[in-house]
This record gives sequence, structure tokens and C-alpha cells, in this order.
Amino acid sequence: MKMSSYQFIVVSLVVLIAQCVSAKYVCSEVTFKNTLVTIIESDRTHRKTVTGCISDETLLLKNLKTILVQGQQIPTLYKGAVSNIPHFFGLKIENNSIATVKRWAFLNLGAHSISLNNNGIEWLNEGSFENLPSLETIDLEYNEIRVLPKDAFVNLHNLSMVSFGHNYLEAFDQNWFNDTPNLEYIFLHNNQLKSISKDAFSKFGNLKAATFENNWIEYVDRDAFRGVSKLGELYLGNNRIRHLDLDWSDVHSLRFMGVDDNQLTYIPLSTLKPFEDSLQHFWIHANPWQCSCFDQIGEWATVHNVKLWWRCKKIDLFCYVPQKNSAVCQNRTDTELDSNFLQYSVHDCAKVTT
Ligand SMILES: *[C@@H]1O[C@H](CO)[C@@H](O)[C@H](O)[C@H]1NC(C)=O
Ligand SMILES: *[C@@H]1O[C@H](CO)[C@@H](O)[C@H](O)[C@H]1NC(C)=O
Ligand SMILES: *[C@@H]1O[C@H](CO)[C@@H](O)[C@H](O)[C@H]1NC(C)=O
Repeated sequence: MKMSSYQFIVVSLVVLIAQCVSAKYVCSEVTFKNTLVTIIESDRTHRKTVTGCISDETLLLKNLKTILVQGQQIPTLYKGAVSNIPHFFGLKIENNSIATVKRWAFLNLGAHSISLNNNGIEWLNEGSFENLPSLETIDLEYNEIRVLPKDAFVNLHNLSMVSFGHNYLEAFDQNWFNDTPNLEYIFLHNNQLKSISKDAFSKFGNLKAATFENNWIEYVDRDAFRGVSKLGELYLGNNRIRHLDLDWSDVHSLRFMGVDDNQLTYIPLSTLKPFEDSLQHFWIHANPWQCSCFDQIGEWATVHNVKLWWRCKKIDLFCYVPQKNSAVCQNRTDTELDSNFLQYSVHDCAKVTT
């Protein structure tokens, strides 16, 4: 059967319209304006100037390894900013000045990693990272994020690592994530977290490690780590934690734990019991320990073959001898200890003599 020319024109028009619509749909807003993009392929590196969106058509890609955008002015990543690149590649948009990431900024990508490190980002919209089935890591370190919306990270089945280090987060909410069942590493160090709340990570049954160093954490809920049965590494160093009495009944294989540089005077041995067989390294230095509690932890570590890190740099341990019942390790009030004991400069591990 021969197609009449009339039919042929109709068919061509339909195809043409469909292409226009899908291209428009993806790149309806101009994210990049004369932006220099570096394209690293397996056998060559080349550069292109892009206006509009970064997509396969604008770049003519072959054996793509990495796309780099660095040191430029890009106020907002709009919908489809980087789109339609099916290759398994790394995307690095680093050290630009980006304030906002809009929904579906990354559309139809085979990327295994996206780094938005060091951009001054203040806000990510809901669905900024959505439907990226190959995505394994997201690096958001060194930005200015204080808070995120619910469902910022949605339907990312291979997502294994997210780093929020060096931002201004005041709280963490697991509802920023939706359908990210394979998340294993969450980095939250160097933020302004004030507490770790109840069931903070209960969605993440595969969580293996979490970092919280250098925050302002004063309070850790007893049930903070409920449901994270695979947790192997937990770093709480350099915070303001005074009491740590956690229910670890779901956590059975913690290997590394750091509580160094906090305000702990006491830790109940019952808190450590669940890790008798698994813990390998325990960092406890730079806390105003009661000496009796320190001794108790030391004995526990020896018996259970745990490497205890109690000495900071080359300075001997500082510990505190309460006036009453000094041989007993117990939860004491400030007045029972010494009104000044927390002011001693244990943070830089200076030796204190009283
Ligand atoms: C970041 O980009 C600026 C230009 O905008 C450049 O001067 C600076 O060296 C870059 N810094 C890093 C760490 O790449
Ligand atoms: C997700 O990860 C698995 C295991 O590494 C891999 O086999 C699979 O291809 C990945 N899925 C996608 C869509 O890249
Ligand atoms: C110790 O006492 C404080 C208040 O005095 C309390 O908040 C804390 O839960 C107690 N227990 C432990 C194990 O720190």
C-alpha cells in the first residue's frame, strides 16, 4: 500500500510536534547562559559553551565519564537543567553560585553521582532529586542549607550515600526522603543540629554509617536509632552531649563509635552492653569523665577487646574525682560534681589540675 502524500505530511507533522513538545517540556527554562561545560569521555576531554540545558543533543556525547561545570554564575537550576543523558556518568556542578534547585532539575539521567559541592545553595525544592534509578551518591557539602522540604529526594532506588556536611542544618528529618530504600551512608557533620530525635532514621533499614561530628547536639533521644539494625559506624564527636542513655535493642553490629569531645561525665554500662561482641574502636577522649566511670569503661574495653581511644594528642587524660562517693560511677547532678567542672578546657585536651 502506498501512503498518499497527504497522509505523509500529517504523519510528519505529528512527529515534528511531538519532538518539539518533549524538548520544550524538558528545557522550558534557561538554566545555563553561555556556561562553559567540560566533558570528559573515555578517550578525550572537550569543552562546550551551553545556553539552555545540558543534554545529550547539546553535547553530542560518546563514552561519557564526567560532566563538569565549575566556577560560574548559575543562580537557579531549573527543571531539566541537566536532562536526557542515559550514560552512566558522574555530574559535578561545583563551586558555582547556585541559590536554588527546582523540582526535576535532573531529568532522565543515567548518572551514578551528582555533586553540587560548594555552591552556596540555600534551598532545594521538593523532587529536586527524583526518579534517578542509577543514582548512588549525592554530595551537597559546603552549601548553605538550613532546612529542606519533605520529599526533596524521591524514588531513588540505588541511592547509597548522601552528604550534607558543612551546611547550616538545624534539624534532620527523614521525611526529606521518600522511597530511597538502599541508603547506607548519611553524613551530617559540621552543621547546627541541636538534637537527634526519636526514630530519626527508622526509614533507613540499610543504614550503615552516620556522622554527626561538629554540631551543637545537646540531646539524643533514647529511641533515636530505633530500626537501624545494620548500623556499623556512629560518630557523635565534638558536640554538647551530657547524657547518653540509648536503647540499642535494634542495633547489633556497631563496630566504630565516637563520643569524644562532648560533656559526658558518665555513661551507663548497660548502654554499651549490646556492642560487647561487635565494637572495635571507641573514641571517648575530651570528655569531663568522672574517674570512676573512666575506669569502668576501660575495664569493659579490656574485657571485650575494644580499642579505647582516651588520650588526646600527647596529653594525659583529664578525669574528675567527685567529693562524695568518688569510687562510684553514677549519674550525678552538676552541683554534686563541681559548679565549674564543665568549664575546664577539656575540648582542647588541656590538663586540668584542681
Ligand atoms: C571557585 O571559583 C572561583 C571563580 O568563581 C575561583 O576563583 C576559585 O579558585 C574556585 N575555587 C575552587 C576551590 O575551585
Ligand atoms: C542499581 O544497582 C544494582 C546493584 O549495584 C545494579 O545491578 C543495577 O543495575 C542498578 N540500577 C540501575 C538502574 O543503574
Ligand atoms: C542522668 O540525669 C539526667 C538529669 O539529671 C537525666 O536527664 C539523664 O537521663 C540521666 N541518665 C543518664 C543515663 O544520663
